[in-house]
Amino acid sequence: MIDESVDKSKRQFLTTALTVVGAVGTGYLAVPFLSQMQPSVKAMAAGAPVEVDISKIEPGQLIRVAWRGKPVWVLQRSPEVLETLKTLDGQLRDPESDESEQPVLSKNPARSLKPEIFVAVGLCTHLGCSPTFRPEVAPHDLGADWKGGFFCPCHGSWFDLAGRVYKGVPAPTNLEVPPYRYITDTQIIIGEAAEEKNA
Ligand code: FES
Repeated sequence: MIDESVDKSKRQFLTTALTVVGAVGTGYLAVPFLSQMQPSVKAMAAGAPVEVDISKIEPGQLIRVAWRGKPVWVLQRSPEVLETLKTLDGQLRDPESDESEQPVLSKNPARSLKPEIFVAVGLCTHLGCSPTFRPEVAPHDLGADWKGGFFCPCHGSWFDLAGRVYKGVPAPTNLEVPPYRYITDTQIIIGEAAEEKNA
């Protein structure tokens, strides 16, 4: 004869046990799933685009921001500087930026989406020092040939105010121009490429 009471309590035990195992199993499965859903703070710090308000940058002023752990410069160039840039080709190693890194829409003599705003990664293309912003013309320490630009103090590389490298210095290519685009006339975002309509 079957003992109904024993059978019932056995069923009850099995049901409870399976429920607990199921809950634990779901918990284990849920943890990695949830952690995949959340954006990694480290990943965001490493690669997130950076918005920059350019409305308060004065002509001739350079501001620095960080993007992907690198210094990025945003420089407001005056009309005089833009005129000077047109006269330097003969002294430059890669005036057309054929061998240098920039987004397609920044491959022009000013190396920018809009001529007056220049954006570049502030690291020398020789061994990665940070060049010094030297906008003045013919300063005493750099001599009469200096037309304003970026000077790398580590091994003496010269770049103009479009980040183009001069001939006869250690740096092999122009400064890198990162991807960026205009959100509005006074705001850019670094780390996102411009589409043709921004050109
Ligand atoms: S790192 Fe700039 S010249 Fe060497």
